[in-house]
Amino acid sequence: MLNLEVAGMYLRNPIILASGFLGISQAIFERIYDEGAGAVVSKSISRYPMEGYRNPTIVVLENKSYINAVGLSNPGYEAFSEEIKTNDKVPLIVSLVGSDPSDFEIMTRKLDGSGIIGFEINLSCPHVQKLGLEVGDDPQMVKSIVETTKSNTTKPVFVKVGVGSTNVLDISQAALNAGADGITAINTIRAMKISIDNFNPILSNKVGGLSGPSIKPIAIRCVYELWKKFKVPIFGCGGVSNWEDAVEFMIAGAASFQVGTAIGFGGMSVFNSISNGIVKYMERKGYQSVKELIGRSHKY
Ligand SMILES: Cc1cc2nc3c(=O)[nH]c(=O)nc-3n(C[C@H](O)[C@H](O)[C@H](O)COP(=O)(O)O)c2cc1C
Repeated sequence: MLNLEVAGMYLRNPIILASGFLGISQAIFERIYDEGAGAVVSKSISRYPMEGYRNPTIVVLENKSYINAVGLSNPGYEAFSEEIKTNDKVPLIVSLVGSDPSDFEIMTRKLDGSGIIGFEINLSCPHVQKLGLEVGDDPQMVKSIVETTKSNTTKPVFVKVGVGSTNVLDISQAALNAGADGITAINTIRAMKISIDNFNPILSNKVGGLSGPSIKPIAIRCVYELWKKFKVPIFGCGGVSNWEDAVEFMIAGAASFQVGTAIGFGGMSVFNSISNGIVKYMERKGYQSVKELIGRSHKY
């Protein structure tokens, strides 16, 4: 009932761990899969190891949302490929971040042969200079990066877009024209929290990325517009906390959806509770396959 194929990736269910949560060890990936996720996206991996920002890197907001500026800390692609070299169990999508096409060429070549099901290119981290949105707001750079990545792998390549200074639809158009197999929408949105006691911005980086329920309506709007315009595979992302959110993303046009911040508040049981909720909803509505939900709101 919940299994589906998305851009050549066969998933037992549409619930995917979003990039940047729960670490990047093979043991954690297996645990997340055992807890019920249909697939896992790794933390964004870069060509060289990155340390990230000093604390504080996360602010917790009242409504179960975060503002984070962790800073893409990761061990680099060589150490990461060692970490996952024995993976034959977890449907793993590797998130890549870089500043020019050569970074992506080197990383894709190395990781392509490992037991992964696809790539997600992070063109949308809103708080790291020379990476993420600074690259993703430049359609020409997006085109070169996607073309280079595609020419070095036969695996599906998703491009993760964010709400930057360039329209989500324009960046997605550039990515799709260059051969991307699908779009992940959206990344966190630039945001701040300032102390009214000592007047300091709370994050060490001052500006971070907003995630969780606060961004869900914006993410839904992006997915809706993307599906309406392109009818391509979309991973919806941003504020999925329960099965109702998940269904809303799918009827907006998402083929699957990613869950991140909600794990910080509800733990890993969120994967199974979302699956169970979707199954009951489908039974009530008389649907046989979760695919029947994709884009359903566009009929009205
Ligand atoms: C602490 C933290 C770290 C993140 N790291 C990454 C990352 O490395 N790469 C990436 O593409 N997105 C990263 N994200 C963004 C998430 O993958 C996701 O797009 C965003 O949080 C919205 O989904 P959510 O509301 O379910 O958390 C991070 C988010 C948080 C809160």
